[in-house]
Amino acid sequence: MSTPSSPRAAQAADLDARDPLARFRAEFHLRPGEIYLDGNSLGLMCRPAEAAAQRVLGEWRALGINGWTDAQPPWVDLPERIGAALAPLLGAAPERICLTSSTTGNLHQLLATLFQPTAERNVIVGDALNFSSDAHAIASHLRTRGLDPAKHYREVASRDGRTLHADDLIAALTPDVQLAVWPAVLFTSGQLLDVARLTRAAHERGVRVVWDCSHSVGAVPHALDADGVDGAFWCSYKYLNGGPGAVGGLFLHARHAALAPGMAGWWGVRLDRRFAMAHTHEPASGAAAFHVGTPHLLSLAPLGGALELFAAAGGMAPLRAKSLALTAWLMELIDTELAGLGFTIANPRAEAERGGHVALAHPEAWRLCQALKAAGVVPDFRQPDVIRLAPTALYNTFADCADAVARLKHIVTTRAHERFAARTGGVT
Ligand SMILES: Cc1ncc(COP(=O)(O)O)c(C=O)c1O
Repeated sequence: MSTPSSPRAAQAADLDARDPLARFRAEFHLRPGEIYLDGNSLGLMCRPAEAAAQRVLGEWRALGINGWTDAQPPWVDLPERIGAALAPLLGAAPERICLTSSTTGNLHQLLATLFQPTAERNVIVGDALNFSSDAHAIASHLRTRGLDPAKHYREVASRDGRTLHADDLIAALTPDVQLAVWPAVLFTSGQLLDVARLTRAAHERGVRVVWDCSHSVGAVPHALDADGVDGAFWCSYKYLNGGPGAVGGLFLHARHAALAPGMAGWWGVRLDRRFAMAHTHEPASGAAAFHVGTPHLLSLAPLGGALELFAAAGGMAPLRAKSLALTAWLMELIDTELAGLGFTIANPRAEAERGGHVALAHPEAWRLCQALKAAGVVPDFRQPDVIRLAPTALYNTFADCADAVARLKHIVTTRAHERFAARTGGVT
């Protein structure tokens, strides 16, 4: 397919020329001609992440076991060093963060630690739109406690099938609820929930809250300490660009510092006692006690490299400002260029409720996604009818948005998507 040019190209070029973060695009491996808008699923590789991964591989080759102590920096406390670089993005003190395990593994850890059912309070509240893995973790965790998820797990329903209403979330915090697990940004519609307000409302009702920050970390600033969030967990492979399957993270508020990890292991023992191999668990200070086993160096090192760019960019404030400008621009293009072509913007438009991606609904979303990929635009599809478009602040341009919309308009007006098969399932 020839690449249609955008009628808004000059305006996009002007916006790009005034972008204070434009220089970071050159740090990423972008495929020529491709418009990558899937950084909310898997962020692209950047040069510092690649260099950090290669550095650890070289240290392994050169030092073997001595890499734990003699590598630069030593592997033994790499999770804490990288956690310190990540902490400002989450509004958390470095010692409240533990980089470990997977997203889902960290939810299990937080459930094992923060869910303390009593005769009166023994229900976990989630929501009907959250990522499937969170529901699996909660249900299986309840079963290990001998509690039937049918009775002890409640999901807040969505009124419109796409978003959650704060009043409904708060109303679900009845006196039998001990813990709520909610997403800071919804993975489909990109709705940003008011973490501070909902956390406050939960505490007023005697409920702890754990936030899934997978779709917010690196896209939206957080203030986990100041908001009094009980616990949070996230993945590092989306907006943080840590690489496929990069090590996840968890946060536990200082007020819970005395809680022992629900899932303990030797790496959570304080370093000077770890190799004593005692069978009593002497916890490391802070969230480092929540390590279970040996850190996954190869999936941790690239995250450290990727975070160098977040620091160089000036942290979350400028990144959020650009992200909001990109998604506003993209919505304006959709409203004007795709009017009358069957598209609906399914994410909330208000800045205070908008995460890092635009959720574009269309009855032909699946086939349009396939056609976009064939035309060199990488979006992703989410059930039942959403094309997710994530222009990320570090490597996307305003021109990317204009060109993607031009290609989408060309596809839909020429019905190029109709040569693709209807969805039959599988990996998207
Ligand atoms: C919102 C959300 N929660 C949980 C997960 C599960 O993450 P993991 O596969 O790293 O455990 C994902 C994965 O994309 C996600 O988007």
